[in-house]
Amino acid sequence: MAKQPQPPEMDRDAQGWVLYDASCGVCSRWVPFWGPTLARQGLGFAPLQSDWVVERMALTAEAPPPEEIASDLRLLLANGELISGADVYRHVMGCIWWAMPMHVLTRLPGLRQIFDGVYRAFAAHRHEISRACRMPAPSAKPASPEPSKAGTQRKPRHGDEFEFSLVGFDRRGWSRGSTGEWSVRMRGGAPRDRWRGTVIRRRRSLLEIRGLELIEAGPAHREAPCSHHNSCGGCSFQECSYEEQLVQKHRLVTDALGAAGVLGLASVEAVIGCENPWAYRNKMEFSFSNRRWIEADEPPGAPADFALGLHAPGRFDKALALSECRILFPGGEAILQSAGRLARELGLAPWSVRNHTGCLRHLVLRHGVYTGEIMVVLVTSEETPELVLTYAKALLAAQPCITTLVHAINTGVASVARGESERVIFGSGYIEEQLLGLHFRISAGSFFQINTRQAEILFRMVVEEAAPTGEEIVYDLYSGAGTIALLLAAAAREVLAFEEVPAAVADARRSAAANGVEGVRFFEGDVLVELDRALGGAPELPRPDVVVVDPPRSGLHPKVPAKLLELAPRRLIYVSCNLHNGASDIAQLIEGGYALRRVQAVDLFPHTPHVECVLSLEWAGPQPGLADSEG
Ligand SMILES: C[S@@+](CC[C@H](N)C(=O)[O-])C[C@H]1O[C@@H](n2cnc3c(N)ncnc32)[C@H](O)[C@@H]1O
Repeated sequence: MAKQPQPPEMDRDAQGWVLYDASCGVCSRWVPFWGPTLARQGLGFAPLQSDWVVERMALTAEAPPPEEIASDLRLLLANGELISGADVYRHVMGCIWWAMPMHVLTRLPGLRQIFDGVYRAFAAHRHEISRACRMPAPSAKPASPEPSKAGTQRKPRHGDEFEFSLVGFDRRGWSRGSTGEWSVRMRGGAPRDRWRGTVIRRRRSLLEIRGLELIEAGPAHREAPCSHHNSCGGCSFQECSYEEQLVQKHRLVTDALGAAGVLGLASVEAVIGCENPWAYRNKMEFSFSNRRWIEADEPPGAPADFALGLHAPGRFDKALALSECRILFPGGEAILQSAGRLARELGLAPWSVRNHTGCLRHLVLRHGVYTGEIMVVLVTSEETPELVLTYAKALLAAQPCITTLVHAINTGVASVARGESERVIFGSGYIEEQLLGLHFRISAGSFFQINTRQAEILFRMVVEEAAPTGEEIVYDLYSGAGTIALLLAAAAREVLAFEEVPAAVADARRSAAANGVEGVRFFEGDVLVELDRALGGAPELPRPDVVVVDPPRSGLHPKVPAKLLELAPRRLIYVSCNLHNGASDIAQLIEGGYALRRVQAVDLFPHTPHVECVLSLEWAGPQPGLADSEG
């Protein structure tokens, strides 16, 4: 008997997967035949029946119910996009050079409709080609969630209850899973948990659920240590083991790279986790509010007109009064409690987001892990010097560990924990912190990585990847308080650091002087403007050999990648705190001539969906000047 061809091994790092019915005779012969061709285009195959497909689909935004997935030919892209029917053929033909003419033809008006019609006719009769095919014909109505004749099925509504399994996290801090028929998302839980929950909202085929009962804990399930875990949006993943969180974050990184089409160009190493994933935040911003979020298990009747804490998820106008916070630095909770108690005792009015009234707006705590120094920044809506002084004195007396206290005034309506003006009420107005043996000054308005120990790992990697040998001009773009610039200075010819916040630049200059670091120049201004000046030949801005970029969460300004490509430094190290935005910058840089060498994520934010990532790129385009000499 002839040996049946075997489907190729499933490649999980592919750019997309054609989903096929493994029980169908046609599909199972078709897959090994086309497998090698599609593999060359970065596409793989995955059986519709595999757990992996069910899990991936549950993590896909707006995934159709499983019954509908199986009703037609599907292509699942690494970015979660699902392509169906004739479009799968069109997409695949567009990936293969010799099929490209067909791809173009089947997109032309008129021919497109004919091609789609032929596909539908073929699909409708595929059962006559192979009786082994179990896919329902696409013309047959898919299993409908509307009431059936028996009246047993309808679209889920608010309050309906379901049992479901969780499979993973998404980048917004939701646990994702499936009822078998519907995709679900909920706060809390852990992958492979089985839950019963009630529908709070439905977005097409995605149900938003409030968990009611953990039916069966998965192997990664843990008891959440924080009493606010069900109400606070801060650490969504407390119920999941830290090891599993790192696995999920690795997937979030590969998903972001896949969405930008650059997955598979470099290996994505396992995420480097924290030794201690608790009490790691050296900075936290809390809000005062005149509307307290009432937690589900509270006894009725407690006052609700004052709160100091974090905003309840999705509620900009209410704050959850925190009695504990497991990720805040040791000693921070006690300061928070004193600040709340004293404000109430002194009758100070908390801010109302709705009416824009009240004095107290924010309380920011900062801590030097190595130095033990603690800064409190009190943000108020008005000057009120006596009131603030009375409050500050009481807080300093209650918490003598505070080494400096700054008063900032924010008269605007935007809820930001910064002020238009600042004055130092107590101490120096800054704290000091250490990183890899260097000392840094951090004032109220300066950026500093919120997890000091992990920042050391992150920066060690940046230095390793930048690998200056003493000859290079290095640019540190978005340099904050000068951390990366100072760490690189020892091994570079010169480091030029660019940052737009004046306080951060001032801190960086003072830190350079205090550490005796030479060979660093700091430029205060917008990165885009400074890059234009460099490209324009400004004499004080020599062309860089190495560039490190560490942009804010929004990623690079859309014009910055093109400027970097014009500068074409030999090595480019991209530090991203939000790869969902950063990956498209990376794609643009690769498109322009860079090769991706290494992707390494470091977890600075346990129990949240955030992860920091170092992406190392090397110029692989033409040698600068080659085109000129040839021309
Ligand atoms: C993620 S932080 C990185 C800081 C520093 N590399 C570090 O790790 O400590 C981003 C920094 O970019 C600065 N920034 C944001 N937009 C900027 C722009 N358009 N031009 C210059 N700096 C900018 C912010 O003030 C912030 O200090």
